[in-house]
Parts: sequence; C-alpha cells; structure tokens
Amino acid sequence: MDMQKMELNMEFNNEVQRTMEDFIRIFCAEKQELAAQRIANEADDRQIAKLEKIGIPVEGRSAGAVAAEMMEDIYSYRSRLNHPRYFGFIPGPASMVSWLGDVMTTAYNLHCATWATSPAASCIERELIGWLCAQAGFGEKSGGVFVSGGSMANLTALTAARDAKLSEEQQYLGVAYVSDQTHSSVAKGLRVIGIPNSRIRKVPVDSRFRMDMKQLEAAIEADIAAGLMPFVVIASAGTTNTGSIDRLPEIATLCRSYNMWMHVDGAYGASVLLSKKYKHLLTGIEFADSISWDAHKWLFQTYGCGMVLVKDKANLLNSFHVHPEYLRDVEARQDQVNYGGMGIELTRPARSLKLWLTLQVMGSAALGEAIEHGFQLAEWAEDELNKQQDWEIISSAQLAIVNFRYAPSGFTDQQIDELNRKISEAILADGYAGIYTTELAGKKVLRICAIHPEATEDDMRSSIRLLDKYAHELCQPALV
Ligand SMILES: Cc1ncc(COP(=O)(O)O)c(C=O)c1O
Repeated sequence: MDMQKMELNMEFNNEVQRTMEDFIRIFCAEKQELAAQRIANEADDRQIAKLEKIGIPVEGRSAGAVAAEMMEDIYSYRSRLNHPRYFGFIPGPASMVSWLGDVMTTAYNLHCATWATSPAASCIERELIGWLCAQAGFGEKSGGVFVSGGSMANLTALTAARDAKLSEEQQYLGVAYVSDQTHSSVAKGLRVIGIPNSRIRKVPVDSRFRMDMKQLEAAIEADIAAGLMPFVVIASAGTTNTGSIDRLPEIATLCRSYNMWMHVDGAYGASVLLSKKYKHLLTGIEFADSISWDAHKWLFQTYGCGMVLVKDKANLLNSFHVHPEYLRDVEARQDQVNYGGMGIELTRPARSLKLWLTLQVMGSAALGEAIEHGFQLAEWAEDELNKQQDWEIISSAQLAIVNFRYAPSGFTDQQIDELNRKISEAILADGYAGIYTTELAGKKVLRICAIHPEATEDDMRSSIRLLDKYAHELCQPALV
C-alpha cells in the first residue's frame, strides 16, 4: 500500500488505534507492578543479533505486529530508571500525568517555534516560565525557554553569558570557572561556545564538596594578571555526585565585583525551590544571571524536559533571535514570544505542556512534598548504614543523595575500591536495587540518589541490608 492510501485507509487507522489501545493497557498494567520487577534487563549478544537481523524492509508490515515485536524485543530491555529502587545517576521517576501530557503533546505534534503556529502552547510556556522565574526570585525582566535537558540549558545559558560579557574580539581571552564537582555538560558546553579546556579552571572543593572560594578568587586574580578575561562562574545547586550546593551568595558577590556572569547549574537541585521546608538551602540563587533546571529529574517529567531561566530575557534574544525572510510572516508582537528565537532550536515540541499538566493535576504543594520525601529517603539509607558495621559515610545525605563505602579493616585502599565496585556489581546482578559507584576524594564509593515519590523506608533499609549481605560475601579474602 502506498503511503497516501495508507493514511486515508479506515482499516489502517483502526489498526493503529487498536495497537495504541493494546499498548496503553499493557503499559499501565506493567507500571502497576513496577516495584516487583528487576531494576534492569540487559540485552545479551543473541538479542542484539536478533535486532540487527531485522533490517529495513522494502515492503511494509502490519503496525500491530511490529508494535508487539517492539514491546517484546526492544522496550523489555532497559534499565528502569523510573523504578522506586533505581538509585543510580539521576533517576527518572516520571509521573503518569507527565506521561499523559507527553503522549497528548506528541499526538498533536505542536510546532512550538513561533507564537503564530502554537499561540496557546506558547502562552502556557510563557506563563510557566514566569512562574518558575518567580520561584527562583527573578524579577520582571526575567524569562527563559524550555529545552531538552540540563546539557542544553547549560549550553544556552553559557552562550548568553559569553555574548553578554565578551565582545567578538575578546572571546579568545575568555575564562570560565567551575569546580571539580561541576557536571561534565558544563565543560562540554563551554567547548562548544569556543572556550577550550585550557581556559576552563577547575577550582578544588572544600570538605563539603563546595567550590573553595579563596581558590576561586585566586584563580580569577591570576588570570586577570595574565591578561585574560574571566567572564563566568558556574555554581552548582545540587552537584551530581553529592548534592552539594555551592556558596551562592558569596559567588554572587564575587561575580558582581569582577563584572562576571553567574550561572547556576540547578539541573538537579533547583527543584528544591518548590519545597517549603528546604527552599532556604538555595538562598542566593536569586542573584544568578542564569539558571539551568531539569524537569525530567526532580519534577518527575518524562525525558526531554528542561528549562533555562535568565534574569534578563534580553540576553537570550541577543544571542538567539533570528529574522530570516522565511520567518517574517510569523514575527511576534511585543506581548508575544517566538520561542524558536529564545534558544538554539527552531522547530521544537511543546515541552512545557506536560509539566503544566502535572502542576495543574497535582498542585505545586504536592510536588514540593514529593521532593521533601527524597531528602527523607536518603536519610533513612544513611541511618541504616550507621547501624551496619564497617560502612563509612563519605558524604552525608543532602538533597536526596548519600555516598558511602564498605571499608573493613585489614584491606588496602585499592582492595577497598575493588570491593565496593564488586558490591555494586552484585546488587545490580541481583536486580533488587540500582546502586552504582562514583569517585570522591580519590576513593571509589557507592552512591544513592533517591528521588522516587513511591520509594519507601523499607525500600531504603532493605537495599542497604542487601548491600551489607553482598559486602560480607565478597569480603572473604579469596574473592577480593
Ligand atoms: C548537575 C547536572 N547538570 C547537568 C546535567 C545534564 O543534564 P541532562 O542529562 O538533562 O542533559 C546533569 C545530569 O545528570 C546534572 O546532574
């Protein structure tokens, strides 16, 4: 059947609808029993070979049959980052409401580059960006744009920072300051905008994994003395490793006195702004020039949903506004926004709608409470670790993250590193909980990031007890 006939064919449309209904039934049933499933199903070589063999057919096949194959052979093989006991990286506990918003938005396939093509969705994006800016303490001139995630938010903000602080002739002198705990996407973004590694200063951190202020200022002074142009400090509000928050008010003061841009990477931690109990931890974020904030992390959205907020939206327009001849018919009025001219992407989906739907259905207070639950989960894990022998806390629970390691006496540092790596492997192979390693202060450590609203105290305590069981089993000298 040719493509045109296919789209108009009633029978074909009915088949697609039936496939969709089957999919929704299976998906929702699976979601109900998520907690009982393994945290990951790996695809072995045989499974990968099976997929490679499918190829691309010249003649098409039935939508229902292909969808069933996809359920069986593709979607089954995955890490369940939305599992209540998936504690690796930053988990993705997307809510069903976000999923609904995503499915609806994809179905309508809104073109959200211009106000003219999506006036209502652009209005929602503008309202939501305004509300998020208000949470951060930004004023009237503020603005922002929805992007695909934290990496794009950082890249977008850093571009605005470069253009605000350096002329074209000065760009080769620009220097940026991060800490050794800053997320890797920041350096990636800096390289993309023409700041090479040789002009990215990695400032060491203090004992609580926050940027060392004295060393930051010394680095800035040294660069000025060398004829370079310090232009941006990237502070973290919730580092990926430990959840640490840099000293935002002090960084703001420093940026002001050196006429530098202050960017806050809050991809993970900015969501704490919605918690009444913990919002104070982010005091000083209101002084930032720009903030990255991921909704697909701690605002429980499906992937591809982040925001970049700026204190003065003129900075985004300055870097990204375009007006080629083929877009003249859709120029926005003063009170409208063409979001395709506020960031890197032109054609873009209406990412704000699923977050808006979630906030409408759950209310912002419930989201704040769900975020507070994450803090509690990590505290339960730490409490249980303190009850077991030979476990060392490397970074105490903060912003739902805790780092620790099994360190019995009589082992070398190298053996302890290896032991903790094997403990992580053991619990992953078990399938009960997703706990991975990272490195802190030269030590290999286990890390838990617990932000799932449905995870329970028992999930936390039983995961720690299981780690302890594997630690003891692995500790027999012959196995290490
Ligand atoms: C602090 C921080 N910044 C930026 C990012 C990058 O975000 P994304 O993966 O959405 O691009 C992450 C991802 O974990 C992060 O934790």
